[in-house]
Amino acid sequence: MTTEDGKVWESLRPPSAQAVEQARKVLLDRLFAPSATLEGSGSLVPGTAGPLTGLPPVSPSEDFYEDFVVGEAASWFTVVDGRGRVRWTMKENDGQQLLVLVSRATPAAYLAFLRRERISYLVAGTQRVDLGAALRRMRSRLGVTCVVSTGGGGLNGALLRAGLVDEIHLIVLPAAVGGAGAPGVFDGPALADGEMPTRLRMLSSHTEADGTLSLRYEVVRSGSR
Ligand SMILES: NC(=O)c1ccc[n+]([C@@H]2O[C@H](COP(=O)([O-])OP(=O)(O)OC[C@H]3O[C@@H](n4cnc5c(N)ncnc54)[C@H](OP(=O)(O)O)[C@@H]3O)[C@@H](O)[C@H]2O)c1
Repeated sequence: MTTEDGKVWESLRPPSAQAVEQARKVLLDRLFAPSATLEGSGSLVPGTAGPLTGLPPVSPSEDFYEDFVVGEAASWFTVVDGRGRVRWTMKENDGQQLLVLVSRATPAAYLAFLRRERISYLVAGTQRVDLGAALRRMRSRLGVTCVVSTGGGGLNGALLRAGLVDEIHLIVLPAAVGGAGAPGVFDGPALADGEMPTRLRMLSSHTEADGTLSLRYEVVRSGSR
C-alpha cells in the first residue's frame, strides 16, 4: 500500500476500530493460542510483481527443495510465496519469526536466497503451494495447531475452497468500495457447477456506536447441523 493509499484507508476507520481489532486478537489468543499467522505475497508486493530477478544462479546438482528450518520459534509469521516474489528485508515481525511457504515450482535461486538469508521455509505442493499439505507440515514439523490468516481475498478464498477454514472473525468498517474487481473477503475461482457455498453459523456479533461491526462465524461442516 502506498502512503497515500494508507491515508485513505486510515480515514475510513472509526475510532473504535483499533480497540475492536485488539479485542479480536485477545479472544483468539484466549480461545486457540495461535502460534502462526498467515499472509499472502499479495499483501507484501504489488499484484504485478513477478519472481525476484538478479539472484545468483544455482548449481543444478544442489537440492534446495528440502524444508529449511532455522532454529525454533514460539510463533511464526508465515507467508505463502510460491512464485518467490518477496525480497525480504526482515526476518521477524512483531515477535514472530518469518516462515515462507513455497512449492516445488518455486525458483531454486529464490530458495538459495532464503537459505543465504537464514530464512525458514517449508516446501509443499508441485505447481503451487498446497495449502493443506503446508498446514499439516506446520503442525508435524513445528507443532503449530492453530493458524490465523490475516491475508487478503486471494489467500482467504483459496483457504475456503480447500476446506481449511474453521472460523471467520470479520471486522466490517462503515464504507463500501463497490465495482467489479474490488477485492473481496474470499476471492478466487467461482464455485464449480453443483458446488455448495460454505455454510456458516454465527457465534457472535457486536456493533460499535460509530459503525464498526465485529462478526464471528464458524464453518458448518457437511454432515453436522
Ligand atoms: N482488508 C484486509 O483486512 C486486508 C488484509 C490483508 C490484505 N489486504 C489487501 O489484500 C490485497 C492482497 O490480496 P490478494 O488477494 O491480492 O493477495 P493475497 O491474499 O496475498 O493472495 C494471494 C496469495 O494467496 C496465494 N494463493 C492464492 N490462491 C492460491 C491457491 N489456490 N493455492 C495456493 N496458494 C494460493 C498466492 O500464492 P502465490 O504467492 O504462491 O501465488 C498468494 O501468496 C492487498 O491489497 C492487501 O492490502 C486486505
